[in-house]
Amino acid sequence: MQPFPADVIRTSFALVEPRAEEIGRAFYARLFAHEPSVRSLFGSDIEAQAGRLMQMIAAAVRLLDRPAELESALHALGERHQGYGVTAAHYPLVGQALIDTLAAKLGPAFDGEVRAAWRDFYAYVESTMQVGASFAADARARVA
Ligand code: HEM
Repeated sequence: MQPFPADVIRTSFALVEPRAEEIGRAFYARLFAHEPSVRSLFGSDIEAQAGRLMQMIAAAVRLLDRPAELESALHALGERHQGYGVTAAHYPLVGQALIDTLAAKLGPAFDGEVRAAWRDFYAYVESTMQVGASFAADARARVA
């Protein structure tokens, strides 16, 4: 059993996907407005980065019914993020910006049930990415 309702995530993401460009751009605008300190972690092409983020979320949603594959994709993603200078403290900032962006863009469709589902889904993504990040840290400690 996954710790979030996959059907609610799928149904609500179906509203996001056709607007992925707009929502991706709005997400980074919100993140950098609220947390200007994280801007320097990213390169200059935020438009392209927004596309990569939304594609990764779409891939994760498609893998909801293949939990083992989803888990290993998120481990790998978390391991790469360790290399981008991302720390555990960054994850809640990104999660908040994501939830707030979805709320602003989906309006009434982002009701209490949908919000709770995305909060729990993000918590799962975050903790699974951090397991991947810790693999990377362990591997570095072994060669050091
Ligand atoms: C739901 C969680 C997240 C998802 C799905 C996600 C997704 C992605 C994807 C798909 C990429 C493209 C490169 C790759 O695939 O490795 C990327 C790059 C990156 N992400 Fe994330 N990310 C997440 C959380 C975070 C957090 C918490 C931060 C911290 C601020 C962050 C900062 C970055 C940075 C700095 C890059 C590299 C950008 C560059 O090279 O310009 N990400 N992310």
